[in-house]
Amino acid sequence: TFQYASPPSAASPQHVLEPPAPSAVFVVVTVKPGAEDAIRDFLGGIGGVIRAVGFRAKAAGLSCVTGIGSDLWDRLFPGKRPAKLHPFKELRGGANVAPSTPGDLLFHIRSQRTDMSFELARQLINQISESVDVVDEVHAFRYFDQRDILGFVDGTANPEDQLAVDSVFVGDEDPDFAGSSYVVVQKYLHDLPKWNSITVEEQQAAIGRHKLSDIEIPDADKAPDSHVILNTITGPDGKEQKIVRDNMVFGSVESGDFGTYFIGYAADPAVTETMLEHMFLGHGDATHDRILDFSTAVTGGLFFVPTQDFLDDPASVLGTPNQS
Ligand code: HEM
Repeated sequence: TFQYASPPSAASPQHVLEPPAPSAVFVVVTVKPGAEDAIRDFLGGIGGVIRAVGFRAKAAGLSCVTGIGSDLWDRLFPGKRPAKLHPFKELRGGANVAPSTPGDLLFHIRSQRTDMSFELARQLINQISESVDVVDEVHAFRYFDQRDILGFVDGTANPEDQLAVDSVFVGDEDPDFAGSSYVVVQKYLHDLPKWNSITVEEQQAAIGRHKLSDIEIPDADKAPDSHVILNTITGPDGKEQKIVRDNMVFGSVESGDFGTYFIGYAADPAVTETMLEHMFLGHGDATHDRILDFSTAVTGGLFFVPTQDFLDDPASVLGTPNQS
């Protein structure tokens, strides 16, 4: 395993930057009215639950990132709030819709082993089953050599090392929450018969990379509506703005639903939102991302990822009620 550099603060972050794992479970829950105290207690103990499950098979590299939705933040921690936390904004570009769906907490569980991911999901939800409704649960896996179910290697252009740290962790711009992150998730279903009915050349044009080799198509030859073109964005300083993705595959032969669970971490959720706007509303010569002709987003959520220190002891950041 390789190590990433430290985040830009003394606070210990959650395990946002993990090497790609073969197994993941994504659980989104809503919190029942009146359960706020129970959830605050639960968040304080979450680190212990991850340790208890993970320690039994250290080599499996079990991790869990917990995200908190905008509305739940206000219910749990009225007062200080992360500067860029807001609900996921629905996008409607003609036939292409990115819906915003309910969700108060996100658990992004990763491991080398399916049994570990499953056990952690089970133990976490066991603790809060009276307090929450599980609104989405996806058991996902990595497909062959880091491919998505469309057959393309997925994750190649992710930033690494210090660039990854700078891309995902809040820094001095929001000092109370330095070391935190923002995460966007969307569950996509693919029309695989339609995708497989076009040629590999057309598929490559849709993505912007070669299918077998994963080599990028030269910029001059990329289609304006290719996925890579629309997701390559630059900030006001002319520098490329990056997110860290960890898409996973899921599917059911019974229902015929096959999909991609998209997950993207960023220090500023506006970066991910700009990518989504390009994909769904179009940009330049493109009316929409070609990938969307074969993909339907069925969920959408934006969550704040506090530091592990915050989860353990929110008062260390927010102050106790008497002090504030
Ligand atoms: C690149 C697949 C959704 C952002 C890629 C690549 C593939 C891919 C195969 C090329 C290899 C790589 O660099 O990873 C998918 C699939 C999606 C999906 C199957 C679900 C339908 C999204 C969404 C976003 C996004 C919703 C952003 C909100 C990006 C970015 C890149 C990328 C930033 C790298 C662009 C670059 O700098 O080269 N994706 N993606 N993707 N995708 Fe996606």
